[in-house]
Amino acid sequence: MKSGKLCVLFFSLLPLVTVEAGLFDIFDVFFDKDDLRPFDYTDLEKDLRESLYGQHIALEAILKAVSLFMRDPEPSKPLVLSFHGPTGVGKSFVSKIIARNIFKKGEKSSHVHLIISDYHFPHKSEAALYQTQLREWIYGNVSSFPRSMFIFDEMDKMNPHLIDAIKPFLDYSDVDKVSFRNAIFIFLSHAPANLIINMTLDFWKEGKERVEINGQELEAQIYQNILNEKDNGFWQSSLLGQHLVDHFIAFLPLELKHVRQCVLAEMANLNMTEDFDLADKVAKDMSFIPPDNIFAVKGCKSIRYKLGQHMKLNKTEL
Ligand SMILES: Nc1ncnc2c1ncn2[C@@H]1O[C@H](COP(=O)(O)OP(=O)(O)OP(=O)(O)O)[C@@H](O)[C@H]1O
Ligand SMILES: [Mg+2]
Repeated sequence: MKSGKLCVLFFSLLPLVTVEAGLFDIFDVFFDKDDLRPFDYTDLEKDLRESLYGQHIALEAILKAVSLFMRDPEPSKPLVLSFHGPTGVGKSFVSKIIARNIFKKGEKSSHVHLIISDYHFPHKSEAALYQTQLREWIYGNVSSFPRSMFIFDEMDKMNPHLIDAIKPFLDYSDVDKVSFRNAIFIFLSHAPANLIINMTLDFWKEGKERVEINGQELEAQIYQNILNEKDNGFWQSSLLGQHLVDHFIAFLPLELKHVRQCVLAEMANLNMTEDFDLADKVAKDMSFIPPDNIFAVKGCKSIRYKLGQHMKLNKTEL
């Protein structure tokens, strides 16, 4: 390989190494094999029920899929989950909940890898190079630690060639004598956010309870929608055709009451005394999607910032 190409390879892998691993984490990969927690269904259920608001479909689907997989001594394929929904509704948050129920160090474990397509693979023209790097990198991680977890953010923006690079690892068969059956792959994407929002809104308009929304029906609709969406990296790759994704899980838009719960949770994180009036004010100060103003535009994103603003305001009013 020419020195110029080596240079490109080095610098494009650098973010993966610095963000993902770091020198100490590389040390961990080889020596800290006992980062795994014994899996406990009750702990995961409690964690999800206490921390996740307004996502009955995701809660049930994830609890079932993760526990079946984690309790299976010989899974036939890796666990592949795809989370869909608008911004700020808990997709990344749930990935972290899963991670902390599997690894002692949770999302900070050196076996939990977050890949953000725009950040790690910024140059479209380098797709072929990234493809090789990604393949080797996943292979290397799973060879040294079979229960590795990969979270791919912004999946809908990801180059289809890169999605194709992941594909061989999601299947039933070993790759070059390495089994991928204990690995976990989670894909995060917004699409089809509008479909999910409109369906939830229709329910609300018909006066039905949100919890009546059927996860399986929505899963089928998400799958169909991605199949028809030509701009989506998923569609352009051949991943969908081979049914390698175990579940397409919908995350619903959040209502005022959920945002209020998020504010209270943030107060607890900050060791503040519970203040329902303040939580109410902060939640109402978030933007809601017009004309019905039922769902928060950014879900529970930026809650800490908004809470901080209100606390400053309260101080100056005193
Ligand atoms: N359903 C929820 N239940 C509890 N907390 C939530 C929920 N949704 C979001 N949050 C809170 O808001 C923060 C931001 O949410 P998160 O990062 O999971 O959004 P996201 O769905 O991944 O959005 P994006 O698609 O923009 O990345 C979380 O860290 C969490 O504190
Ligand atoms: Mg996210």
